[in-house]
Amino acid sequence: MRVITGIQPSGTLHIGNYFGSIKQMVSLQNSNELFMFIADYHALTTLKDAKQLRENTIEAAISYLSLGINPAKTIMWVQSDVKEVLELYWILSSYTPMGLLERAHSYKDKVAKGKTPNHALFSYPVLMAADILLYDSQIVPVGKDQIQHVEITRDIAIKFNNDHGELFTLPKFKVDENVASLPGIDGAKMSKSYGNTIDIFTTEKALKKQTGKIITQSVALEEPKEYENCNVFALAKHFLTSDELEELKDRYKKGGEGHGHFKLYLKEKIWNYFEEAREKRAYYHNNRDEVCDILEDGALRARKIAYEKMEIIKDAIGIRRGKR
Ligand code: ADP
Ligand code: TRP
Repeated sequence: MRVITGIQPSGTLHIGNYFGSIKQMVSLQNSNELFMFIADYHALTTLKDAKQLRENTIEAAISYLSLGINPAKTIMWVQSDVKEVLELYWILSSYTPMGLLERAHSYKDKVAKGKTPNHALFSYPVLMAADILLYDSQIVPVGKDQIQHVEITRDIAIKFNNDHGELFTLPKFKVDENVASLPGIDGAKMSKSYGNTIDIFTTEKALKKQTGKIITQSVALEEPKEYENCNVFALAKHFLTSDELEELKDRYKKGGEGHGHFKLYLKEKIWNYFEEAREKRAYYHNNRDEVCDILEDGALRARKIAYEKMEIIKDAIGIRRGKR
Protein backbone atom coordinates (compact mmCIF):
# COMPACT_ATOMS: atom_id res chain seq x y z
CA MET A 1 0.00 0.00 0.00
CA ARG A 2 1.12 3.55 -0.60
CA VAL A 3 0.91 5.40 2.69
CA ILE A 4 1.39 9.17 2.98
CA THR A 5 1.96 11.33 5.99
CA GLY A 6 2.68 15.02 6.39
CA ILE A 7 4.54 16.23 9.42
CA GLN A 8 4.02 19.70 10.78
CA PRO A 9 7.48 21.15 11.51
CA SER A 10 6.39 22.49 14.85
CA GLY A 11 9.51 22.20 16.98
CA THR A 12 10.07 20.02 19.97
CA LEU A 13 8.70 16.47 19.94
CA HIS A 14 7.30 14.91 23.09
CA ILE A 15 6.85 11.30 24.18
CA GLY A 16 3.11 11.52 23.33
CA ASN A 17 4.06 12.23 19.70
CA TYR A 18 6.35 9.22 19.77
CA PHE A 19 3.90 6.64 21.10
CA GLY A 20 0.87 8.21 19.39
CA SER A 21 2.39 8.56 15.94
CA ILE A 22 6.11 8.24 15.18
CA LYS A 23 6.41 4.65 16.40
CA GLN A 24 3.57 3.60 14.06
CA MET A 25 5.25 5.34 11.10
CA VAL A 26 8.50 3.58 11.76
CA SER A 27 6.77 0.20 11.70
CA LEU A 28 4.61 1.09 8.66
CA GLN A 29 7.68 1.61 6.50
CA ASN A 30 8.53 -2.10 6.73
CA SER A 31 5.51 -3.41 4.87
CA ASN A 32 4.35 -0.39 2.85
CA GLU A 33 5.59 2.28 0.52
CA LEU A 34 5.86 5.15 2.99
CA PHE A 35 5.82 8.72 1.67
CA MET A 36 6.67 11.24 4.36
CA PHE A 37 7.05 14.96 3.86
CA ILE A 38 7.61 17.95 6.09
CA ALA A 39 4.66 20.25 5.56
CA ASP A 40 6.42 23.62 5.54
CA TYR A 41 3.77 25.30 3.38
CA HIS A 42 1.11 24.19 5.85
CA ALA A 43 3.22 25.52 8.70
CA LEU A 44 3.38 28.89 6.95
CA THR A 45 -0.35 29.36 7.62
CA THR A 46 0.55 30.07 11.24
CA LEU A 47 4.34 30.39 11.53
CA LYS A 48 5.69 33.64 10.14
CA ASP A 49 9.24 33.62 11.51
CA ALA A 50 11.57 32.64 8.63
CA LYS A 51 14.46 31.53 10.81
CA GLN A 52 12.22 29.38 12.94
CA LEU A 53 10.45 27.77 10.00
CA ARG A 54 13.78 26.95 8.34
CA GLU A 55 15.18 25.55 11.59
CA ASN A 56 12.02 23.58 12.45
CA THR A 57 12.00 22.01 8.99
CA ILE A 58 15.51 20.59 9.21
CA GLU A 59 14.98 19.73 12.86
CA ALA A 60 11.87 17.67 11.97
CA ALA A 61 13.88 15.72 9.40
CA ILE A 62 16.68 15.10 11.89
CA SER A 63 14.26 13.98 14.61
CA TYR A 64 12.36 11.53 12.40
CA LEU A 65 15.58 10.08 10.98
CA SER A 66 16.94 9.69 14.50
CA LEU A 67 13.79 7.97 15.71
CA GLY A 68 13.89 5.29 13.05
CA ILE A 69 12.67 6.58 9.68
CA ASN A 70 14.89 4.86 7.17
CA PRO A 71 15.53 6.80 3.95
CA ALA A 72 16.38 3.56 2.16
CA LYS A 73 12.76 2.50 2.66
CA THR A 74 10.86 5.76 3.00
CA ILE A 75 10.69 8.68 0.59
CA MET A 76 11.21 11.73 2.78
CA TRP A 77 11.14 15.26 1.44
CA VAL A 78 10.17 18.84 2.16
CA GLN A 79 6.73 19.73 0.80
CA SER A 80 7.84 22.99 -0.86
CA ASP A 81 10.57 21.17 -2.82
CA VAL A 82 7.91 19.66 -5.08
CA LYS A 83 6.30 22.67 -6.73
CA GLU A 84 3.68 20.56 -8.50
CA VAL A 85 1.80 20.41 -5.22
CA LEU A 86 0.92 24.09 -5.50
CA GLU A 87 -0.11 23.66 -9.12
CA LEU A 88 -2.48 20.89 -8.12
CA TYR A 89 -3.69 22.91 -5.13
CA TRP A 90 -4.93 25.63 -7.47
CA ILE A 91 -6.52 23.18 -9.86
CA LEU A 92 -8.31 21.39 -7.02
CA SER A 93 -9.55 24.73 -5.69
CA SER A 94 -11.80 24.92 -8.73
CA TYR A 95 -13.35 21.62 -7.70
CA THR A 96 -13.82 22.59 -4.04
CA PRO A 97 -17.19 24.01 -3.05
CA MET A 98 -16.92 26.79 -0.45
CA GLY A 99 -19.35 24.93 1.79
CA LEU A 100 -16.97 22.02 2.09
CA LEU A 101 -14.29 24.26 3.60
CA GLU A 102 -16.74 26.27 5.67
CA ARG A 103 -17.68 23.08 7.49
CA ALA A 104 -14.06 22.22 8.42
CA HIS A 105 -13.77 21.82 12.21
CA SER A 106 -10.06 22.41 12.25
CA TYR A 107 -10.46 25.86 10.68
CA LYS A 108 -13.31 26.78 13.01
CA ASP A 109 -11.32 25.61 16.05
CA LYS A 110 -8.25 27.60 15.08
CA VAL A 111 -10.30 30.75 14.60
CA ALA A 112 -12.11 30.13 17.90
CA LYS A 113 -8.68 29.92 19.57
CA GLY A 114 -7.91 33.41 18.33
CA LYS A 115 -5.81 32.70 15.23
CA THR A 116 -6.25 35.36 12.56
CA PRO A 117 -8.14 33.61 9.78
CA ASN A 118 -6.11 34.18 6.62
CA HIS A 119 -7.05 32.61 3.31
CA ALA A 120 -4.36 29.91 3.50
CA LEU A 121 -5.69 28.73 6.85
CA PHE A 122 -9.13 28.47 5.24
CA SER A 123 -7.90 26.60 2.18
CA TYR A 124 -5.51 24.38 4.19
CA PRO A 125 -7.55 21.23 3.39
CA VAL A 126 -7.20 21.85 -0.36
CA LEU A 127 -3.41 21.85 -0.08
CA MET A 128 -3.66 18.71 2.01
CA ALA A 129 -5.83 17.14 -0.70
CA ALA A 130 -3.15 18.05 -3.25
CA ASP A 131 -0.48 16.43 -1.04
CA ILE A 132 -2.44 13.22 -0.92
CA LEU A 133 -3.82 13.01 -4.47
CA LEU A 134 -0.62 14.03 -6.25
CA TYR A 135 1.05 10.77 -5.23
CA ASP A 136 -1.96 8.44 -5.65
CA SER A 137 -1.82 7.73 -1.94
CA GLN A 138 -4.05 4.93 -0.73
CA ILE A 139 -3.78 5.23 3.03
CA VAL A 140 -3.42 8.30 5.24
CA PRO A 141 -2.69 7.49 8.90
CA VAL A 142 -4.17 10.28 10.98
CA GLY A 143 -5.20 11.33 14.44
CA LYS A 144 -8.94 11.92 14.93
CA ASP A 145 -8.61 15.67 14.31
CA GLN A 146 -7.44 15.03 10.74
CA ILE A 147 -10.13 12.57 9.61
CA GLN A 148 -12.31 15.32 8.17
CA HIS A 149 -9.41 16.55 6.04
CA VAL A 150 -9.13 13.15 4.40
CA GLU A 151 -12.90 13.10 3.85
CA ILE A 152 -12.64 16.52 2.19
CA THR A 153 -9.85 15.11 0.02
CA ARG A 154 -12.11 12.27 -1.09
CA ASP A 155 -14.98 14.69 -1.83
CA ILE A 156 -12.71 16.85 -3.99
CA ALA A 157 -11.30 13.80 -5.81
CA ILE A 158 -14.80 12.45 -6.48
CA LYS A 159 -15.90 15.79 -7.93
CA PHE A 160 -12.84 15.89 -10.19
CA ASN A 161 -13.20 12.25 -11.23
CA ASN A 162 -16.87 12.79 -12.07
CA ASP A 163 -15.85 15.37 -14.64
CA HIS A 164 -12.67 13.80 -16.01
CA GLY A 165 -12.69 10.06 -15.33
CA GLU A 166 -11.07 8.08 -12.52
CA LEU A 167 -7.78 9.98 -12.49
CA PHE A 168 -7.39 10.31 -8.74
CA THR A 169 -7.08 7.42 -6.33
CA LEU A 170 -9.56 7.80 -3.47
CA PRO A 171 -7.54 7.67 -0.24
CA LYS A 172 -8.69 6.09 2.99
CA PHE A 173 -7.85 7.43 6.43
CA LYS A 174 -6.48 5.06 9.02
CA VAL A 175 -7.03 5.82 12.67
CA ASP A 176 -5.28 3.48 15.00
CA GLU A 177 -7.76 3.01 17.85
CA ASN A 178 -5.23 1.01 19.88
CA VAL A 179 -2.72 3.77 19.84
CA ALA A 180 -1.79 5.14 23.21
CA SER A 181 -2.87 8.56 24.40
CA LEU A 182 -0.29 9.72 26.89
CA PRO A 183 -1.12 12.04 29.77
CA GLY A 184 1.01 15.10 30.34
CA ILE A 185 2.63 16.05 33.62
CA ASP A 186 -0.69 17.54 34.81
CA GLY A 187 -2.74 14.46 33.86
CA ALA A 188 -4.45 16.13 30.85
CA LYS A 189 -3.57 14.83 27.36
CA MET A 190 0.07 15.61 26.68
CA SER A 191 0.24 18.45 24.17
CA LYS A 192 2.59 21.25 23.21
CA SER A 193 -0.30 23.66 23.46
CA TYR A 194 -0.94 22.75 27.11
CA GLY A 195 2.70 23.14 28.13
CA ASN A 196 2.57 19.79 29.93
CA THR A 197 5.02 17.78 27.84
CA ILE A 198 7.93 15.49 28.51
CA ASP A 199 10.27 16.00 25.59
CA ILE A 200 12.14 13.30 23.71
CA PHE A 201 15.29 15.24 22.98
CA THR A 202 16.27 17.12 26.04
CA THR A 203 19.07 17.09 28.59
CA GLU A 204 19.03 14.60 31.42
CA LYS A 205 18.69 17.48 33.86
CA ALA A 206 15.67 18.92 32.04
CA LEU A 207 14.12 15.46 31.81
CA LYS A 208 14.52 15.06 35.55
CA LYS A 209 12.82 18.40 36.02
CA GLN A 210 9.91 17.53 33.71
CA THR A 211 9.31 14.11 35.25
CA GLY A 212 9.74 15.61 38.71
CA LYS A 213 6.77 17.88 38.05
CA ILE A 214 4.30 15.08 37.28
CA ILE A 215 1.26 15.54 39.46
CA THR A 216 0.67 12.65 41.86
CA GLN A 217 -1.56 11.93 44.87
CA SER A 218 -0.09 12.79 48.21
CA VAL A 219 0.30 9.61 50.23
CA ALA A 220 2.70 8.99 53.13
CA LEU A 221 5.94 7.27 52.14
CA GLU A 222 5.27 4.04 54.02
CA GLU A 223 1.68 3.68 52.70
CA PRO A 224 0.80 1.48 49.70
CA LYS A 225 0.10 3.51 46.55
CA GLU A 226 -2.39 3.15 43.73
CA TYR A 227 -0.80 2.61 40.38
CA GLU A 228 -4.11 2.53 38.49
CA ASN A 229 -4.69 6.26 38.43
CA CYS A 230 -1.12 7.39 38.77
CA ASN A 231 0.27 9.62 36.00
CA VAL A 232 3.80 8.35 36.59
CA PHE A 233 2.68 4.77 36.11
CA ALA A 234 0.57 5.65 33.04
CA LEU A 235 3.72 7.01 31.41
CA ALA A 236 6.14 4.42 32.72
CA LYS A 237 4.20 1.49 31.30
CA HIS A 238 5.21 2.50 27.77
CA PHE A 239 8.88 2.12 28.59
CA LEU A 240 8.82 -1.15 30.53
CA THR A 241 8.95 -4.83 29.71
CA SER A 242 6.05 -6.86 31.11
CA ASP A 243 8.27 -8.16 33.93
CA GLU A 244 9.36 -4.67 34.82
CA LEU A 245 5.74 -3.56 34.80
CA GLU A 246 4.79 -6.26 37.32
CA GLU A 247 7.74 -5.31 39.50
CA LEU A 248 6.68 -1.69 39.46
CA LYS A 249 3.11 -2.61 40.42
CA ASP A 250 4.50 -4.54 43.40
CA ARG A 251 6.57 -1.56 44.46
CA TYR A 252 3.43 0.61 44.42
CA LYS A 253 1.43 -1.94 46.41
CA LYS A 254 4.13 -2.58 48.97
CA GLY A 255 4.57 0.98 50.18
CA GLY A 256 7.84 2.25 51.61
CA GLU A 257 8.66 4.30 48.51
CA GLY A 258 7.36 7.71 47.55
CA HIS A 259 6.24 8.97 44.15
CA GLY A 260 9.59 10.72 43.94
CA HIS A 261 11.27 7.31 43.63
CA PHE A 262 8.91 6.29 40.85
CA LYS A 263 9.53 9.57 39.03
CA LEU A 264 13.27 8.98 39.15
CA TYR A 265 12.76 5.45 37.87
CA LEU A 266 10.62 6.81 35.01
CA LYS A 267 13.27 9.39 34.17
CA GLU A 268 15.92 6.64 33.93
CA LYS A 269 13.70 4.54 31.67
CA ILE A 270 12.89 7.42 29.31
CA TRP A 271 16.51 8.49 29.19
CA ASN A 272 17.71 4.98 28.31
CA TYR A 273 14.88 4.35 25.84
CA PHE A 274 15.94 7.22 23.61
CA GLU A 275 19.69 6.75 23.97
CA GLU A 276 20.23 5.44 20.45
CA ALA A 277 17.98 8.14 18.97
CA ARG A 278 19.96 10.80 20.83
CA GLU A 279 23.20 9.47 19.42
CA LYS A 280 21.81 9.46 15.90
CA ARG A 281 20.49 12.96 16.37
CA ALA A 282 23.89 14.21 17.50
CA TYR A 283 25.36 12.54 14.42
CA TYR A 284 22.89 14.22 12.06
CA HIS A 285 23.41 17.57 13.74
CA ASN A 286 27.10 17.27 12.99
CA ASN A 287 26.39 16.06 9.45
CA ARG A 288 23.64 18.36 8.26
CA ASP A 289 24.79 17.95 4.67
CA GLU A 290 23.81 14.32 4.87
CA VAL A 291 20.32 15.31 6.00
CA CYS A 292 20.05 17.80 3.13
CA ASP A 293 21.15 15.07 0.71
CA ILE A 294 18.47 12.69 2.05
CA LEU A 295 15.81 15.39 1.62
CA GLU A 296 17.07 16.28 -1.85
CA ASP A 297 17.04 12.64 -2.90
CA GLY A 298 13.50 12.28 -1.50
CA ALA A 299 12.40 15.41 -3.40
CA LEU A 300 13.83 14.03 -6.64
CA ARG A 301 11.91 10.79 -6.28
CA ALA A 302 8.69 12.55 -5.25
CA ARG A 303 9.05 15.13 -8.04
CA LYS A 304 9.27 12.45 -10.69
CA ILE A 305 5.97 10.92 -9.59
CA ALA A 306 4.41 14.37 -9.21
CA TYR A 307 5.52 15.54 -12.64
CA GLU A 308 4.05 12.49 -14.36
CA LYS A 309 0.77 12.83 -12.49
CA MET A 310 0.47 16.51 -13.37
CA GLU A 311 0.99 15.79 -17.06
CA ILE A 312 -2.07 13.55 -16.96
CA ILE A 313 -4.13 15.98 -14.89
CA LYS A 314 -3.27 19.05 -16.96
CA ASP A 315 -3.94 17.15 -20.12
CA ALA A 316 -7.37 16.16 -18.83
CA ILE A 317 -8.42 19.72 -17.94
CA GLY A 318 -6.98 21.50 -20.97
CA ILE A 319 -4.00 23.21 -19.33
CA ARG A 320 -1.20 21.87 -21.48
CA ARG A 321 0.67 23.40 -24.37
CA GLY A 322 0.73 21.44 -27.59
CA LYS A 323 -2.69 19.98 -26.97
CA ARG A 324 -4.77 23.03 -27.82
P1 ADP B 1 0.54 18.52 20.04
O1 ADP B 1 -0.82 18.21 20.64
O2 ADP B 1 1.63 18.40 21.05
O3 ADP B 1 0.56 19.84 19.28
P2 ADP B 1 0.39 17.36 17.45
O4 ADP B 1 -1.03 17.83 17.32
O5 ADP B 1 1.45 18.06 16.65
O6 ADP B 1 0.81 17.39 18.98
O7 ADP B 1 0.42 15.80 17.16
C1 ADP B 1 1.33 15.13 16.32
C2 ADP B 1 1.03 13.65 16.41
O8 ADP B 1 1.25 13.14 17.73
C3 ADP B 1 -0.44 13.31 16.09
O9 ADP B 1 -0.47 12.10 15.35
C4 ADP B 1 -1.08 13.12 17.45
O10 ADP B 1 -2.18 12.23 17.39
C5 ADP B 1 0.07 12.54 18.26
N1 ADP B 1 -0.07 12.94 19.68
C6 ADP B 1 0.03 14.19 20.17
N2 ADP B 1 -0.13 14.19 21.51
C7 ADP B 1 -0.34 12.90 21.88
C8 ADP B 1 -0.58 12.25 23.14
N3 ADP B 1 -0.63 12.92 24.28
N4 ADP B 1 -0.75 10.90 23.13
C9 ADP B 1 -0.69 10.21 21.97
N5 ADP B 1 -0.49 10.77 20.76
C10 ADP B 1 -0.31 12.10 20.70
N1 TRP C 1 -2.60 18.50 8.42
C1 TRP C 1 -1.65 17.55 8.95
C2 TRP C 1 -1.44 17.83 10.43
O1 TRP C 1 -1.68 18.92 10.91
C3 TRP C 1 -0.34 17.62 8.21
C4 TRP C 1 -0.52 17.27 6.77
C5 TRP C 1 -0.42 18.12 5.70
C6 TRP C 1 -0.83 15.98 6.25
N2 TRP C 1 -0.63 17.45 4.56
C7 TRP C 1 -0.87 16.14 4.82
C8 TRP C 1 -1.03 14.74 6.82
C9 TRP C 1 -1.17 15.06 3.98
C10 TRP C 1 -1.32 13.66 5.97
C11 TRP C 1 -1.39 13.83 4.58
O2 TRP C 1 -0.99 16.95 11.16
